[in-house]
Amino acid sequence: MALWPQSSVAKKFLNAITGIGLFIFVVVHLFENLLLLTGNPDDFNRWAHFLESFGVVLRIIEIGLAAFFIAHIWSALLVYWDKWKARPHGYRVYRTAGWTSRQTLSSQTMIYTGIVLLAFVIWHVITFRFGPYYPIMVDGVEMRDLHRLVVEVFNEPINVVLYVAVMVFLGFHLRHGFWSALQSLGAYHPRWTPVWYSGGVLVAAALAAGFIVIPIWVYLYL
Ligand code: HEM
Repeated sequence: MALWPQSSVAKKFLNAITGIGLFIFVVVHLFENLLLLTGNPDDFNRWAHFLESFGVVLRIIEIGLAAFFIAHIWSALLVYWDKWKARPHGYRVYRTAGWTSRQTLSSQTMIYTGIVLLAFVIWHVITFRFGPYYPIMVDGVEMRDLHRLVVEVFNEPINVVLYVAVMVFLGFHLRHGFWSALQSLGAYHPRWTPVWYSGGVLVAAALAAGFIVIPIWVYLYL
C-alpha cells in the first residue's frame, strides 16, 4: 500500500482538509496575539501560561499541528508535480483560461508563497516557541514572560519589515487557498461560488491586516 494518496482527487482533498485546519489555527493565533495590544502584558502571559497548563495534551496538539503542516506541504508538492508532468513538453508559458478559471496572481504563486511561509514558520517557531525563557511573577505564580520576548523581537526594525512582508505573502496564499479548498471539497455552486470567492479575498485581507498591525504596534508603542 502506498504511503501517500495516489489519485489527484485524494491529493487535493488532503491538501484542502489540512489547509482548512491550518487556516483555523491561524485565525485562533491572531486572536491570541491581539492580547499583546491590551495595554496589560499580564493578559498575554496569562493566556500562554493557561495553554501551557494543559501539559501533555498541548504537546499532542502541537504534534498534530506539525503533522498538518507536513501533510499540507507534501500533498501540495504532489499536486504541483502531477500538474508539471501533465504539461506538454517545453510548455512553460502561462496563459489564462479566462475569468471562469479564477486564475490570479495568488493562484499562480501558491507554491512560492508557500515556500516563503514554510521558511517563516521555521524561523518564527525557533524565535518564540523555542526562544529564551524570561521568568515573571503574575498573580503570585511564576510563568514565562513571552510578552517581553515579543517586544524584544519587534523592537528590531528589520524584524518588523520582514514580518510585514511575510504577512502580505500570507494574505495572497490564503486568498487563493480559501476558495480553492472549498472547490476541492466539492463545494462548487454557480450561485455561491462567487460569494465564497469574494469572502476569501475579504478574510485573507482581514487576517493579513490583523497580523501586520501587531509588529508595527509593538514597535511604535511598546
Ligand atoms: C504578528 C504575528 C505573530 C506573532 C506576534 C506570533 C507570536 C507567537 C508566539 C509568542 C508564539 C509562541 C507561543 C508559545 O510558545 O506558547 C508563537 C507560536 C507559533 N506561531 Fe506565531 N505569531 C505570529 C504570526 C504567526 C503566523 C502568521 C503563523 C503561521 C502562518 C504562526 C505560526 C505559529 C506556530 C506554528 C507556532 C508554534 C505553536 C506551538 O508550538 O504551540 N504565527 N507565535
